[in-house]
Parts: sequence; C-alpha cells; structure tokens
Amino acid sequence: MKAIILLGAPGAGKGTLAERVRTATPYQHVSTGDMLRAAVKAATPTGLDAKGYMERGELVPDEVILRIIEERLASGAPEDAYMFDGFPRTIAQAKALDAMLARLGGAIGQVFVLDVPNDTIVKRLSGRRICRGCGAVYNLAAIPPKVPGVCDHCGGNDLYQRPDDTEATVLNRLDVYEKQTAALIDYYREKGVLVRVDASTTPEAAAEDMLSKLR
Ligand code: AP5
Repeated sequence: MKAIILLGAPGAGKGTLAERVRTATPYQHVSTGDMLRAAVKAATPTGLDAKGYMERGELVPDEVILRIIEERLASGAPEDAYMFDGFPRTIAQAKALDAMLARLGGAIGQVFVLDVPNDTIVKRLSGRRICRGCGAVYNLAAIPPKVPGVCDHCGGNDLYQRPDDTEATVLNRLDVYEKQTAALIDYYREKGVLVRVDASTTPEAAAEDMLSKLR
C-alpha cells in the first residue's frame, strides 16, 4: 500500500492540487474534510460529533478522525495508493497513521508541504465558492467559472460559500494550524520524507512542481 500526504494551511490549495494530481497518477484522493462534510450532510453519528468543531474551525477529536480513516483503508485493496489531504493534523494522528500503514504493509512515501504566503491564503478562502451539485471548487478572483454563477462541470447554478470560510472562523483555523498541525513539518522532515511544493502560483504550475518531485 502506497501513501503520500498533502500538508498545508487551510486554503493553501490542498484539495485543488489533489484533484489535478489524482487525474495524472494512481493515487486516490482521501480528504478528511470532504468525508466529514458528507457525514454532517447525512447527519450520521460521525457527522453529529464533528459538526460543532467544524463550525468553530477547531479540530475534530483524533478518535473520530482515526475511525473514519480506519474504515476508509479497510474498504480498500492492498495495492491501493492513497493521497491524504488534511490528514494527519496532529502528531497523535501521524503516529496512528504510521501504525495503521505498518499493519497493512505500507508506509508514508512522501509528504508534500504547500508553500503559500499567509495573505494569499486569506484571499483564496474569502473567494472560494463550491458547486452544490458536483462539489467543483472555484475562486472568484483566481479560478472563476466561465459563466458567472454557473458550474463549468455540471451546469448547476448554486455556487455556495463554506460556512467555515467566514473571516473569524478562517482566522481561528489558521491559528489552529500553527498551534496543532505545523509541528508535523518537523515530524516528517526528521523522517526524511518532506518535499516542498510552490503552491503560490497557478494550480497547473503547482501540480507540475509536485508531479516532477513525486517518486
Ligand atoms: P478541510 O476541509 O480539510 O479544510 P482545510 O484544511 O481548512 O483546507 P481547505 O479545504 O479549506 O483548503 P484547501 O487547502 O483544500 O484549499 P482549496 O484547494 O479548497 O477541513 C475542514 C474542517 O474539518 C477542519 O477545520 C476541522 O474542523 C475538520 N477536519 C478535517 N480534517 C481533520 C483532521 N484530520 N483532524 C481534525 N479535524 C479535521 O483552495 C482554496 C481556494 O483557493 C479555492 O477557492 C481554490 O479555487 C483556490 N486555489 C487553490 N489553489 C490555487 C492556486 N494555485 N491559485 C489560485 N487559487 C487557488
């Protein structure tokens, strides 16, 4: 089982980059944020546990996250390759992932850190819009739909803003990232698997940079 990780602040462009890399590689895109939003929408027990934390921009407890990742990996095959987006986010999650992969005969191959200046991140999040029909992600300033308000992919006309993309919640999410997640950069550097990606430019250039470094 092969596994790589995309690590970066909220709004750095992890999901956007993952979708471009997914189409060019065998890696499956595993986003804990997307899995949690689906659980909230379906009002499952996991969704009910996670909802309040997400609305406040806080991390969902490790045990909830590890449960959904265990279930996701258990539903896969030994030859599957995973690209984790937004997971792990704490040292405890990283250690648990190491143990899970070891049990399944795998290990983390590379961890790609997305380098983006903080002021760019705030602009990206305030302009993010998502299609309610198919989940395609846009940015009003940088990556707008071809026809304003209409999804390029499914033609739907309900492009919404994520409830945790309000200014106060964004600032809290950035603070949570610095306090609880940024330490993972050192954790993976010490393991010798850290790779830096310039994600400050276009999605295409960021994907090209990552693909050129993917082993
Ligand atoms: P999650 O959904 O993972 O949110 P996040 O990490 O805050 O990241 P985002 O999805 O906001 O941003 P992104 O980096 O994917 O950027 P995107 O590509 O969309 O998590 C949400 C919540 O769930 C958390 O706050 C927490 O509560 C909970 N959670 C999830 N995982 C957890 C875990 N493991 N442990 C505990 N709790 C967890 O891009 C952003 C915008 O920029 C878009 O508009 C996009 O179009 C634009 N953009 C992207 N790339 C570029 C580019 N290169 N140039 C110009 N614009 C760009």
